[in-house]
Amino acid sequence: MKICCIGAGYVGGPTMAVIALKCPDIQVAVVDISASRISAWNSDQLPIFEPGLDEVVKQCREKNLFFSTDVEKHVSAADLVFVSVNTPTKTQGLGAGKAADLTYWESAARMIADVSKSDKIVVEKSTVPVKTAEAIEKILTHNSKGINFQILSNPEFLAEGTAIEDLFAPDRVLIGGRETPGGKKAIETLKGVYAHWVPEELIICTNLWSAELSKLAANAFLAQRISSVNAMSALCEATGADVSQVSHAVGKDTRIGPKFLNASVGFGGSCFQKDILNLVYICECNGLPEVANYWKQVIKVNDYQKSRFVNRIVSSMFNTVSGKKFAVLGFAFKKDTGDTRETPAIDVCKGLLGDKARLSIYDPQVSEDQIQRDLTMKKFDWDHPIHLQPLSPTAVKQVSVVWDAYEATKDAHGVCILTEWDEFKKLDYQKIYDNMQKPAFLFDGRNVVDVKKLRDIGFIVYSIGKPL
Ligand code: NAD
Ligand code: UGA
Repeated sequence: MKICCIGAGYVGGPTMAVIALKCPDIQVAVVDISASRISAWNSDQLPIFEPGLDEVVKQCREKNLFFSTDVEKHVSAADLVFVSVNTPTKTQGLGAGKAADLTYWESAARMIADVSKSDKIVVEKSTVPVKTAEAIEKILTHNSKGINFQILSNPEFLAEGTAIEDLFAPDRVLIGGRETPGGKKAIETLKGVYAHWVPEELIICTNLWSAELSKLAANAFLAQRISSVNAMSALCEATGADVSQVSHAVGKDTRIGPKFLNASVGFGGSCFQKDILNLVYICECNGLPEVANYWKQVIKVNDYQKSRFVNRIVSSMFNTVSGKKFAVLGFAFKKDTGDTRETPAIDVCKGLLGDKARLSIYDPQVSEDQIQRDLTMKKFDWDHPIHLQPLSPTAVKQVSVVWDAYEATKDAHGVCILTEWDEFKKLDYQKIYDNMQKPAFLFDGRNVVDVKKLRDIGFIVYSIGKPL
């Protein structure tokens, strides 16, 4: 069997590498229109940082795993075509700010129809609005030249930073297909691929629409837990309760469970916000404004949490941060990844720069170029899609990027921890304190530091959801 995956990104690359590793009898080609991404996949410096990924790629590359820009050749030769292209939020036109932009998906589908000379199973790997398979089916069948296409939905549930673990031992694999003989046969074929390493009882088969919607629902539920605990964190600060103790007590209820209850400066990442907005749009289009508003609130609380953090910094520092130096520790949207898409660090840094602070940013996996790009890029505001706010060139000059936490904190008035990198737990905070301006402030957006220990050193500490 031959597999081709269109899109060599955070999902396509790791997913296909694991399929190649677990299925030595299958030839896997990962193709992309981005030549630089493909050449990075073929080099020693992979385009994404993901623990364990290098080893998997090294074991299979050039054996049964290939990365190529020859999209058409590999699509044409494949029996199974995964489509794992990006599906960002639309920034203009109908549904701007909410609807998913399916431009890349549609162009991939048209290309598949153009180059195919044999029957194919086309697998939606990207996260898409429910009913996308119907549109894709139309594009393929109306251009099929007699070729039979079966469409499956096989959403991906991996999380960045743990992608390889998640792919090796998924909680479940979800496959949706048509309930026709052809659809059922296609489901069995894809099931056969995963059955190389995933126990059969973990492979769930549903109809197409359930699979598509389950992906949006899962991300909405996960994000909703974070917004729920973040909303509680504000109440904890107002009342003297400690959010870690509250989460622990609440999570002990087996019906609720302990995971995904860490209060933070807000969730980031390329998907939670995008997928919830997409869900909101679908609800609105289906005449369900109450349901839409319910889910919209998850994002509103997330936005509130980020601005609350910035407001707390400014108000604690005598209502002015103008000219003050801040060490920003962590810029990625979570630990163990270099990904900065929708990272809360962008909003926090822009908030501080807006108040004329100076920033010295350190993240072990994010390059200076990436940080500068993120801070200068126009931020798309989902709630007010017309007003795009670029950062002024003078504000950008207030930013420096350094390669060491001690360098970042030297002479700083305040430290902001924005990503929960393990190394931030182990820093020598006495040394940091000694080299800072006094009073030395520390704002922990990820609850990684020992508040009591730092207060004993002399820091003024603000930690999300903890007594002040
Ligand atoms: P990404 O931006 O990292 O990768 C997408 C790749 O597709 C890019 O390299 C782009 O060049 C390529 N591409 C776009 N159009 C193409 C075309 N017509 N032909 C060939 N290549 C093309 O995106 P990602 O993070 O891998 O996400 C992909 C999809 O998976 C999205 O729908 C996302 O919602 C979903 N998803 C992402 C994650 C995650 O952790 N990042 C997890 C689960 C699901
Ligand atoms: C998330 C989901 O966890 C995956 O199942 C899904 O496949 C993926 O989105 C997707 O569709 O893209 P990811 O965004 O990579 O994965 O990472 P998460 O671990 O979910 O973290 C998302 C954000 O929430 C991060 O900023 C993280 O720091 C934050 N978070 C997470 C919290 O603030 N508190 C928590 O308790 C957990």
